[in-house]
Amino acid sequence: MQQATDSSINELIYQMTLEEKIGQLNQPNASPDLNPDLLRQGSIGSLLNASGALTGQGFSDSGNADISNHFQKLALESRLKIPLIIGRDVIHGFRTVFPIPLAQAAAFNPDLAGEAASVAAREATASGIKWTFAPMLDIARDPRWGRVAEGNGEDPFLGAQLASAIVKGYQGDNLAAPDKLVACAKHYVGYGAAEGGRDYENGEISEPTLRDVYLPPFHAAVKAGIGTLMSAFIDMNGIPATANRRLLTNVLRGEWGFDGFVVSDWESVRELTHHGIAEDDAHAARLALQAGLDMDMVDGVYLDTLGESFQQGKISMEELDEAVRRILRIKHRAGLFDQPFTDPSRASRDILTPEARALARQAAVQSMVLLKNEHQLLPLQGFHRILMAGNFIHARAELFGTWTADGRVEDVTPLDESLRQAAPQGTEVWFADTPDLALNLAHHVDAVVLLLGEHPSRSGENCNVSDLSLPPGQAEFVDRMAALGKPLVLVVFAGRPLAITRQLAQADAVLYAWHPGLEGGAALGDLIFGQASPSGRLPITLPRATGQVPIYYNHKNSGRPLTTDGQFRTRYLDLPTAPLLPFGYGLTYTQFEYTNLKVSHATLRGSLEVSADITNTGARAGVEIVQLYVRDLIGSLTRPVRELKGFQRAALQSGESCRVSFTLREEDLAFTRADGTCGVEPGSFHVWIAPDSQRGLQGEFRL
Ligand code: BGC
Repeated sequence: MQQATDSSINELIYQMTLEEKIGQLNQPNASPDLNPDLLRQGSIGSLLNASGALTGQGFSDSGNADISNHFQKLALESRLKIPLIIGRDVIHGFRTVFPIPLAQAAAFNPDLAGEAASVAAREATASGIKWTFAPMLDIARDPRWGRVAEGNGEDPFLGAQLASAIVKGYQGDNLAAPDKLVACAKHYVGYGAAEGGRDYENGEISEPTLRDVYLPPFHAAVKAGIGTLMSAFIDMNGIPATANRRLLTNVLRGEWGFDGFVVSDWESVRELTHHGIAEDDAHAARLALQAGLDMDMVDGVYLDTLGESFQQGKISMEELDEAVRRILRIKHRAGLFDQPFTDPSRASRDILTPEARALARQAAVQSMVLLKNEHQLLPLQGFHRILMAGNFIHARAELFGTWTADGRVEDVTPLDESLRQAAPQGTEVWFADTPDLALNLAHHVDAVVLLLGEHPSRSGENCNVSDLSLPPGQAEFVDRMAALGKPLVLVVFAGRPLAITRQLAQADAVLYAWHPGLEGGAALGDLIFGQASPSGRLPITLPRATGQVPIYYNHKNSGRPLTTDGQFRTRYLDLPTAPLLPFGYGLTYTQFEYTNLKVSHATLRGSLEVSADITNTGARAGVEIVQLYVRDLIGSLTRPVRELKGFQRAALQSGESCRVSFTLREEDLAFTRADGTCGVEPGSFHVWIAPDSQRGLQGEFRL
């Protein structure tokens, strides 16, 4: 089958002119001034329909079947009738907006993230989009970087599990199915290491850290059959990712066997001149193509320069053919040659269905993380009068978060309305629009809920901050409210971990809601009033203050760690070194006890089992995210103090127990060794079954 496809693709390539080949590598933005003749003459292989509208045809602002069919028809008027692949940023849902990716990661539920991706695929394909620029798989250790919102947090294991589930959700088993979408793992690779948390900035990553931390989610996506990758803007270790032959060709194709195609990021080919490794556009295009970068997003430099470079003998026909072949292969696999058009009647059936909304609500419920709950203030029960205030009380589209080109404000119930509806009978809910009014009204209520945090425009692409505190004015509001001494719940909306050290101490209960998507209000109502229980965990460390970043749980020990005695240990003079709350942390409305850790064998040969009893000792049902960590005590290279190797959801009624068991295989302990190879090293290991990355029952084994 694959052979038949390859030979029909080769036949097609044989018929193509030089210009038609270069056309396949060209991806302009679908702007009003796009010349339709470029499509008719085969000079465009893909259209980027990034931010809606822009067709100049009076079409709707969102992707839709008519827009795509219009462009597809023009492309099919070309000599060889090669269909377009139309791409768009469908990042966390299409019209049904799911929680931001970082929030979905907090659910520690890859199956659910996969289901969300399959809803997004159905909706986007019904709108004529066959390719999404997602998932973003960048590991992020610095929350100043605004794009931390778009990724899965700091951990390579969690990132890899999510990558594989999300790719399967978008693509299914058959990319040609009308409701499946080609996925694009981005930004390959190292983008999250941008210095100072400033987007587009450069970074340095050592080879072992690249291999063991930044690459695993991408490798998982490739193993799951992803069709495309996008190169990162970053200059990593002196070679911009867009021109990095070692990563784009040797690692991706050579080591991992990837046979799809790589697209640049927006104008990142031309930007090679700014990085100072290309003297002009033509040089930039050659460097990128020869590195293994197949499609040029938006800047048109492939289109404008590759023909001449070929005539001058600076690039070969084989190099061009290989890039064309990869693109045609994915178009073929996506069924575009057989079915280039979208059935416009699908939109009314497939978009914003009640099932999709219900899933978005479930995803939002599972993504919120309970950080504190003194005296079990939450869920709010038995209160006669509750005051709600803060900049999010009337939130609608503000609940979406970054990158939601297709979400619509009219689909969202305002947050105050959702919360009013969720309140139990007999509870009056008051809302105050301003801090002054809130402080006045607070005297007359039994509890206060502050709905605060970052507007979505404060996170996402190039929305970096130098200060991780709450946005200006909010801390003072919390101070004044806390001084009144009423039971105080803080709900924090954010696209990143914020340094809420003071507020965590002041409030009785704190729920981290991220940007929870279009059902975020209903989900919050479910949690605050106890229709549902929180189960989310931090997929990224919560720092005490900006000065602690970069901060992440899987760091190496220093020569003078905190566990040793003496003054000259790793520390700040003005701040503890420990984070505010660690990776993996999250409370529920009940309590869980961990007992009877058992490691099946003293020595791991092939694999062993690690198990423990988990008991719900509280009064309510709940879901515990049970986590497995290991530490390799001695290595030829220094090893992280802990690494996540597994997690499971234990849903237990009050008083109920279960035995949670993990299989640990030898290959799970492999890492990049001093000689550069990947493998295990014999020696002693610690292992934990734990509620987060700092606690847990500890055992040991040898390898
Ligand atoms: C972003 C990508 C995105 C692309 C297309 C770029 O600016 O970095 O993540 O997919 O634009 O919209």
